[in-house]
Amino acid sequence: MYPWKLNKFGAYLEKTLKSPDDSSSNIPSHFDIIVVGSGAAGLYATLSLAERYRVALVTKGKLRTGSSKWAQGGIAAAIADDDSPQLHLEDTLKAGVGLCDRAAVEFLVSYAPEAIASLLELGVAFDRKNNKLATTLEAAHSRSRVLHSQDTTGRAIVDILTARVSERPNIEILSQAFALSLWQNPQTHHCQGISLLYQNQIRWLRANAVILATGGGGQIFAKTTNPSVSTGDGVALAWRAGAAVRDLEFVQFHPTALSQPGVPHFLISEAVRGEGAHLVDESGRRFAFDYHPQGELAPRDVVSRAIFNHLEKTASDPATANVYLDLRAIAPDRVRYRFPNIIEKCQQWGIDVFSQPIPVAPAAHYWMGGVAVDLMNATSIPGLYAIGETASTGVHGANRLASNSLLECIVFAAQLQKLDSRVGGAHPQADSRVGEYLRVETGDWSGEIEFLELVREKLPALMWHSAGICRTQELLEEAIGQVVRWRSEFADLEIGKYIFNLSATDNIQFESDIASKQLKMAAETMNLLDIGYLILKSAAFRTESRGGHYRKDYPETAAAWEVHTVVEGDRIGL
Ligand code: FAD
Ligand code: SIN
Repeated sequence: MYPWKLNKFGAYLEKTLKSPDDSSSNIPSHFDIIVVGSGAAGLYATLSLAERYRVALVTKGKLRTGSSKWAQGGIAAAIADDDSPQLHLEDTLKAGVGLCDRAAVEFLVSYAPEAIASLLELGVAFDRKNNKLATTLEAAHSRSRVLHSQDTTGRAIVDILTARVSERPNIEILSQAFALSLWQNPQTHHCQGISLLYQNQIRWLRANAVILATGGGGQIFAKTTNPSVSTGDGVALAWRAGAAVRDLEFVQFHPTALSQPGVPHFLISEAVRGEGAHLVDESGRRFAFDYHPQGELAPRDVVSRAIFNHLEKTASDPATANVYLDLRAIAPDRVRYRFPNIIEKCQQWGIDVFSQPIPVAPAAHYWMGGVAVDLMNATSIPGLYAIGETASTGVHGANRLASNSLLECIVFAAQLQKLDSRVGGAHPQADSRVGEYLRVETGDWSGEIEFLELVREKLPALMWHSAGICRTQELLEEAIGQVVRWRSEFADLEIGKYIFNLSATDNIQFESDIASKQLKMAAETMNLLDIGYLILKSAAFRTESRGGHYRKDYPETAAAWEVHTVVEGDRIGL
């Protein structure tokens, strides 16, 4: 009556069957809506959903993890007297180098002031000047339009959204809960829930709508400003389920991440350059003007490439070399007022920003590509939605304008208040075997962890080398070969087979946390391998340079390539 499989590897055994009511994690097996991810997008989406819905907010770390909390510079909106949504639109389209979807950008910029009003109403304390909201300039913005809360804007937003979410009785927060896969109806392919690794269990949770808000995938690159949770899970899950994913070759490399051996690539906000800091080389020269008339305030891809090329020309080991960001051109009081977090973090690593320049180099920062969605955040799979950095809404094109990402999270997540009323109400009768019992297993794949650790170390280095700031066909093809080998080795592992073969009739209780830790690591590694493969394939496919995708062997932007790259299953096309 119950599935009874013995792992061929013999590493785990099924022992007993027990009711989920006995377990410590007595979560319902049905929700109206499941939101995966608790960054700005996931939190704001959860708040936007009608309160009649029973919502699960699932997040793989603690509640306040993700890039959103780390956002520094701010959130863009045309609110100044000399600004307008039209100017914001023009700047966004220009930064996107022909690949923005105009309707999506119009939507973004016209709802930006409303998004800010909503955040203010919720309690977000943006900085003010003379009683008016203060704004600053960032690269490629023609007006000062970036609202901020010192240099911890993301934290200010996430803290408030988290507090508001916690007040809502219709929202069940499941933290340290890892979404393993999407659950699709085998006949219709509708998304009908997820499988979840939570409190040493695998549970299949049914829902009428699943919203992916899992952020970006910066961890695929050896140098990144992103937090450890940014492993591209949502894109990998959606792609494996058959959703169309788009423009995955477009990665934004931020020019100024802290570059000091043994220290994380902490972001030194673009707002620092907006306030007047100079980007200088070893000899103190402002070399960025050699590459672009706007110097250090040129678009991010231009500045990142300028640093890359300058180091290639001047450094003995360009891979580890750095340039400097000199804040001494800004009045010290202004630095203290605007950048307390940067001062503190630099101090922590022995850098006094008032007396010495900060060593910086580019690092992977933002993924323009993602799961293709429409203006309602609907993906190509019915019942599946994507928002925030996981989604490709079309607003960023080939390169994102600074501070448009937090804005996109809020403006698009707000659309979910219109989610169809059919989402709520009666649930289709679940398979009677699903959700009733937990099978107890040991689960221990210790012998295979070494391989996973090797991939986690080597894959980001390979991606940085082959699909980083400058790409070539040869490097990309070599990397594809290696990633294909790793993917097939992963598929041959017992832990790999275990994940692939999980079926919706398996609700599992592990005897200790060893199995769930190993499964989480394996599932994240699989996701990284999948997104690595997709980025490489898309980058090899696009034989031109545009925005965040630079091909040394095809350095020009080609009119014929003013089209999106779409991947669906194994098919890649335009
Ligand atoms: P995130 O905030 O990254 O949240 C993703 C969530 O998904 C996390 O809670 C994570 O735990 C969860 N998750 C992931 N996988 C799973 C899984 N399998 N199961 C369960 N949960 C999962 N943009 C701006 O507009 N302005 C800025 O000033 C700015 N500064 C930035 C500074 C830094 C250092 C970084 C890294 C980015 C910055 N960005 C900025 C970009 C912006 O912060 C992000 O693009 C945006 O916050 C993404 O929000 P999100 O909600 O999509 O994802
Ligand atoms: C920054 O503060 O430089 C990051 C802003 C952004 O990524 O939009």
